[in-house]
Amino acid sequence: MEKNTNIIDKSSDIGKKISRRDILKTAGVGGVGVILGASGLGGLLSITESKATTKEAHEIVPFYGKQQSGITTKTQNHVYFVSLDVTTSKKEDLVQLFKDWTKASALLSEGKAVGDLSSNEFLPPKDTGEAAGLSASNLTVTFGVGPSLFVKDSQDRFGLKHKQPSELVDLPKFPLDALEDEWTGGDLCIQACADDLQVAFHAVRNLIRIARGKAILRWAQTGFQRTKQADSKNETPRNLFGFKDGSINPDVNDEKEMNKQVWVQPGDGPDWLVNGSYLVVRRIQMFIEVWDRSTLKEQENTFGRYRDSGAPFGKKNEFDPLDLKHKNDKGEYSLPVNSHTRLSHGDGSQQILRRAYSYSDGMDLKTGSFDAGLLFLCFQRSPSKQFIPIQNRLAKMDKLNEYTSHKGSAIFACLPGTKPGGFIGETLFN
Ligand code: HEM
Repeated sequence: MEKNTNIIDKSSDIGKKISRRDILKTAGVGGVGVILGASGLGGLLSITESKATTKEAHEIVPFYGKQQSGITTKTQNHVYFVSLDVTTSKKEDLVQLFKDWTKASALLSEGKAVGDLSSNEFLPPKDTGEAAGLSASNLTVTFGVGPSLFVKDSQDRFGLKHKQPSELVDLPKFPLDALEDEWTGGDLCIQACADDLQVAFHAVRNLIRIARGKAILRWAQTGFQRTKQADSKNETPRNLFGFKDGSINPDVNDEKEMNKQVWVQPGDGPDWLVNGSYLVVRRIQMFIEVWDRSTLKEQENTFGRYRDSGAPFGKKNEFDPLDLKHKNDKGEYSLPVNSHTRLSHGDGSQQILRRAYSYSDGMDLKTGSFDAGLLFLCFQRSPSKQFIPIQNRLAKMDKLNEYTSHKGSAIFACLPGTKPGGFIGETLFN
């Protein structure tokens, strides 16, 4: 296929007008597009081309906008999440990095390469190449800054200390936290989500490559949900305990609700973060072998929901409201007081936008069991009023704690979006 593409690039005017990806897509149908192009049947080729382009247009999430994508935009099948440490001590390097990242991410989000694929055979190619021929797959790239970008080892590293929001501080230690350094913290983060893992990986790989000499990987975690091919009805995905996970979330289509729960508003803190959001990440290991030995009743009591339907106790359907008041004959709440649903809901006043993915990282070498769990990602306007009080309740008495362990944790301020010509981070650095 690679060879055919070169033939078109060099021999056909039509081939020069369309992108390499369109050609690969067309040629993918048994090379038919290649033959048509080379024989000058441009009309037919453009029909094929426009079909491919239309299909691809549905798989593009715009990168530019008031807010960054990857927060309230539709959750994709895969995540590739990375936390980074900044290695440069110069603010101008940091600014250049965000400028370069912005340009590259805008291209990647359109399914394009970050530079010519093969411009000079005596130099390493500008793009690593593994996404050539692949669609944009709804790729979103979301950038955040951690507390340690502002102050590290008591040093005001980049003269940004006065801009650090009071909400952007390390999370408190919660009861039962078993955090490991290798999964904790970070100066910067990149959340790349796509319906194809190779596309998400390609994005992160090229962004890390661009960061050479300025920032390095601190930790990385992939995650998945069922694919759209496997679930054409697009139901709520199930987590690795077999329960529907993500049923109750604030409505991302309700702008007022998003302004209340997710987007930082004027007056909340420093102006540079208005239209940004706080991201809390927790890498939570799930002891699936232990879970698999527990009874269905025990499993359902743990969540306070029925496994099959996802409905809360006492209700029929997944999205039915919780009945927090109903008591059984013994005078106990039907929705157990230590169930995850009851505790995470609380009195309903704290909400977070959950965008979690399952992970499966082979074997836990210390125990010989699966290293699998949940990459819990949640967005909010104020961690001190949202994630922290919820997690305080859960850490104290959630029945789920018998089956899980929080191994990683980080907090980031996800920057506001930008327009073409601008760059992510401009409000913070300018
Ligand atoms: C491995 C860890 C976890 C698992 C397996 C898990 C799973 C679930 C499940 C199955 C539900 C019920 C269905 C739904 O509404 O999505 C749920 C609800 C929820 N979880 Fe978790 N969860 C985990 C960790 C957390 C953490 C760390 C938090 C936040 C501190 C959290 C916050 C919530 C909230 C806010 C709800 C919705 C409550 C409501 O009904 O209003 N979860 N979770």
